[in-house]
Amino acid sequence: MKKIAIMTAGGDCAGLNSVIKTVVLSAEKNGITVVGVLDGYKGFIEKKYTVLTGKMVENIDSIGGTILGSSNKECPFHYPSKEDKNVYIDRTDEGIEGLRALGVDSMIVIGGDGTLDSARVIHEHGLNCIGIPKTIDNDMSASDPTIGFDTAVEAATECIERVRTTAYSHRRVMVVETMGRTSGYLTLYAGFASSADVILLPEIEYNLDIVANKVKSVMESEKRCCIVVVSEAAKEKGKAEVIKKIVEDSFEQKRYGGVSERLAESLEKMTGYEARNVVLGHIQRGGAPSVSDSILASRLGGFAMSLLLKNEFGKIVGIKNGNLEKMDFPKDRVPRLLNVKENDIIVTARNMGVCFGDM
Ligand code: F6P
Repeated sequence: MKKIAIMTAGGDCAGLNSVIKTVVLSAEKNGITVVGVLDGYKGFIEKKYTVLTGKMVENIDSIGGTILGSSNKECPFHYPSKEDKNVYIDRTDEGIEGLRALGVDSMIVIGGDGTLDSARVIHEHGLNCIGIPKTIDNDMSASDPTIGFDTAVEAATECIERVRTTAYSHRRVMVVETMGRTSGYLTLYAGFASSADVILLPEIEYNLDIVANKVKSVMESEKRCCIVVVSEAAKEKGKAEVIKKIVEDSFEQKRYGGVSERLAESLEKMTGYEARNVVLGHIQRGGAPSVSDSILASRLGGFAMSLLLKNEFGKIVGIKNGNLEKMDFPKDRVPRLLNVKENDIIVTARNMGVCFGDM
């Protein structure tokens, strides 16, 4: 019987289980066994697997995260050696051999740009791969949107709306920090949907005086409160992003965090209005998928399976201009950023009086 593998890697998000369910049920219908690789590339190298059956996955699509586990640290071609954990070597072939020993001849990999770059390397090393893009950051050119983005926007928007009612009661300035790494999609969509007064994005450096003036004018109006939504990697003009920690053994070493605390302190001093900060953090990644994410995940899982059944490998599947598309694995890892001049949400928000910290 033909065997394939499936793996989720990188930061988790909602919708991953819908991909797994779709792949396993479609495989079963076609007489294919699916081996799940556990905990991302850690399980790939350390040969930790589980066989997935239709029965096991039939109800997982409404569960957040991934039943297979994930990790956003390991990289198969830069992995600690068995002899010395401080020495990093290419162990891709070892991972491939483990799956081949089980009779697996191909693998569907669901992940962000780092994960899919590793999938490209695995494919080049001889194990057929198909990639499916996911990330709450929506920063992959391979798909617009990526799996997990819609759910994260919903979660962040709901949280900001909750923050607004307490801000209103206390006549406060609230600075809400969102995830997204160097790309501002999540911040922009959640900030816009929750009618934030100020939205600070990594793509637009902000001027603190401009932000403080906007905050003052909002607080002096009948609004009673001011909502500032700031992306974790937003930068004050001429300054660096605020980094929380460096994860040495991670592909993306920087972990952002702390910008909202600094900003709230500065705004309180500069405006005289009481300010608080809220970091939304992993709340944005957790929880059940939105209907849109569930459908997107199933569509991409289904498309990946249709390529696999035609023995078409070495591709990433995504959504482009609303249609399913397949494309080659990119050779470079460039995050997709907002086009701040042309993005229609930014244009509309500016016309509605939202401040982006630059004018
Ligand atoms: O890439 C997804 C993401 O949630 C980013 O938005 C965030 O910067 C990062 O992962 C957080 O990583 P970790 O889970 O390691 O804290």
